[in-house]
Amino acid sequence: MSDAPILEVRNVSRSYRKGGFFGGTHFKAVDEVSFTLPAKPQVFSIVGESGSGKTTLARMVLRLVEPSEGDIRLLGRPLTGKEGRINDLEFRRLVQPIFQNPFEAFSAYLPIEDYLRRTALNLRVAKTVEEANQLADRALRSVNLSLERIRGKYIRQFSGGELQRISVARALIPQPKLIVADEPVSMVDASLRMSIVNLFRTIVEEQGVSFIYITHDLSTAYYLSDQVAIMNRGRVVESGVPTDILDNPTEAYTRELMAAIPTVGERWSELEDIGRTYPTHSSRQQTGSNQPPANA
Ligand SMILES: Nc1ncnc2c1ncn2[C@@H]1O[C@H](COP(=O)(O)OP(=O)(O)O)[C@@H](O)[C@H]1O
Ligand SMILES: [Mg+2]
Repeated sequence: MSDAPILEVRNVSRSYRKGGFFGGTHFKAVDEVSFTLPAKPQVFSIVGESGSGKTTLARMVLRLVEPSEGDIRLLGRPLTGKEGRINDLEFRRLVQPIFQNPFEAFSAYLPIEDYLRRTALNLRVAKTVEEANQLADRALRSVNLSLERIRGKYIRQFSGGELQRISVARALIPQPKLIVADEPVSMVDASLRMSIVNLFRTIVEEQGVSFIYITHDLSTAYYLSDQVAIMNRGRVVESGVPTDILDNPTEAYTRELMAAIPTVGERWSELEDIGRTYPTHSSRQQTGSNQPPANA
């Protein structure tokens, strides 16, 4: 069982109706998508522009939307259907979401620590308040916070970056196998993005959690992932190891996504800070290497 892939997505589609009630047509928001996250923990990125079907795919993996066709398996077991379906409690312990807007992830009326305790108790990974406190504190420490530091505070007392780190902590409470993060840094200050992305990497290595990282930003996906799938109009148009894709994009669409990455300013310095450079065609043409331009 431990050798079973974390996740297998096989020929999954999701159709929606487009246009008016009369004469409307069906279109596929997700169209015959397949990919596998192997047993070894890793980051699998899904990259595409707005409307390409990323969130629909994420919601199917999170079992919030049912596929119109195809089959999704978690640790070899089907997400939907009657036979051997994982029950809801077990599913929520195994697979946790991180959403785009951290301010919507928590109740405004509960101190955050209460919310985290409730998560532990509701998922029945803690039996007592004391156990729930321990789990919350451990999760907070893995995002460089602690129960002490958030004690008595409400969401409005945190910055977007801090709150997103707390969302990561909340997701870690049941010690899941898979975290699905849908555009988790697109609402976070640019200066904090890389620290959150780095956190994901640390969690993969130290806690053995796999990530599906969804983004429209190829540069963070390149930096963070073991595998990348490029989505366009509901389809995965290419996939593989990030360096292979970016060094040799076969799709015009991938080249467009690459061209959208700012080649000067903060993005370069962010990547430089963490000791990795981003190879774009323009930088290689200009400098003959994948080093950032000197004026970055
Ligand atoms: N519940 C829904 N009903 C109808 N159309 C939907 C629904 N959810 C998503 N769509 C459509 O599916 C397409 C993909 O959307 P989405 O998965 O949100 O893409 P992305 O996250 O890449 O921006 C869009 O055209 C969107 O309008
Ligand atoms: Mg989306």
